[in-house]
Amino acid sequence: MFPIPAMVVSTVAVLSSVRRGGQRAMAFGRSIFAHHGTPRVERIATRDALEEFARLPYQVYAGRAAWWPPDVQNEIDFLTRRTPAAAFLDLAGFCARRGHQMVARVSAVINHRYNAHWNEHLGHLIHFEALEDENEATVAMLKEAMAWLRSRGMKAVRTGFAAFLDYPYAIDNYGRLPSFLLRGNPAYYHCYLKDAGFETEKGQVDYTATLDAPTLERYRGIIEAGLSTGATVKSWRQYGFLAAIDAWTDVTNAAFDRHWGWNPVTRAEVRPMLASLGDTAVADLSMIAEMNGQAVGAVFSVPDWSTMLARIRRGSTIDPERGGGTRGALINIGVTQEARGRGIAVTMAARSFLAMAQQGMRYAGYTLVLDDNWASRRTAESLGARITDNFVTYRCNFP
Ligand SMILES: CC(C)(COP(=O)(O)OP(=O)(O)OC[C@H]1O[C@@H](n2cnc3c(N)ncnc32)[C@H](O)[C@@H]1OP(=O)(O)O)[C@@H](O)C(=O)NCCC(=O)NCCS
Repeated sequence: MFPIPAMVVSTVAVLSSVRRGGQRAMAFGRSIFAHHGTPRVERIATRDALEEFARLPYQVYAGRAAWWPPDVQNEIDFLTRRTPAAAFLDLAGFCARRGHQMVARVSAVINHRYNAHWNEHLGHLIHFEALEDENEATVAMLKEAMAWLRSRGMKAVRTGFAAFLDYPYAIDNYGRLPSFLLRGNPAYYHCYLKDAGFETEKGQVDYTATLDAPTLERYRGIIEAGLSTGATVKSWRQYGFLAAIDAWTDVTNAAFDRHWGWNPVTRAEVRPMLASLGDTAVADLSMIAEMNGQAVGAVFSVPDWSTMLARIRRGSTIDPERGGGTRGALINIGVTQEARGRGIAVTMAARSFLAMAQQGMRYAGYTLVLDDNWASRRTAESLGARITDNFVTYRCNFP
């Protein structure tokens, strides 16, 4: 599960620019250019190259009936260091070209905050996308980006999970719209990554609950039982949206302190990202749990924004379980150590899912859990959710 929903906010904010970004006439994932010439790897250095970099996914996914488009402006701002997170990062964008055509892209990132938190020397590769049948070019690009990290003292590299920045790679359901903003990468990405020397590091699962009448009745029972946990649960609207943002930051930093892949975030960087959502359904679907006047639990949930944010081919409809106005998503849940094991997580999630149903949603995502996070998986299962998608994160230890 992603500790910070940065992309939620930036995606909403740049919706208009995404919509303006035209789809180019490309076959699904394939270059329309002939495969001639030796591929070459370049650092992203010009404004034009940045634009092309940010828009490459439009070529990879153009043939999909529905997909989550990139946050073009956010990626450009990120690579030009105009985002708050840039203060903690060294980064470089790379691409592979064949002739003039960009066929693959990736950003190499050294997250100093992550490395300080875990006492590691781990680099990240984010923004990875590539056209089909471009193994040679793509592997050469990945190796160049890995060499960049290694030359800066990194001992290993991860791709497919970075708090704030990167999501894991899909290993099933390739043709369907993934859960809110997750990757729906093509299957051939795994060959590229493994040919570049990566191994599977972690698995993740995504859950979906059906919000039918018996399930909602069960949630009411869970909420009733939750009264005996000693905690009170309020929506962010009831708690006060701005106060809830700070409570979310504090609880999440504490709860995720030892959560694999996570690094701490500051109130100052989270406030501007979430404040604009106060007028949206997020305020009713997200929860804070308090005990003795202290925030001890937090949930961040979103309504179904697929009809607004996903690119959906004219004439296509999304399976109601996946979106189309009927699937909300719980993006993040955390309970501080001392308050765990009392039913607070399951109570907050039940409240969130019930609120989704009250707003017309028929399904709820419990989005992205590490395979070995049994406390979270049990929470999802207690809510009647079932696994609907699988993902992996890759790692390469430098020799
Ligand atoms: C996951 C987390 C939110 C659970 O919070 P919690 O308030 O302790 O959970 P609950 O008491 O509501 O328990 C929910 C279910 O998980 C089970 N559970 C709780 N802790 C568990 C553990 N360590 N191992 C296995 N099952 C566990 C409970 O028995 C319960 O299942 P049941 O309804 O079948 O009895 C909490 O452990 C946490 O914040 N972890 C760190 C952050 C994190 O991993 N967040 C989720 C990311 S996907």
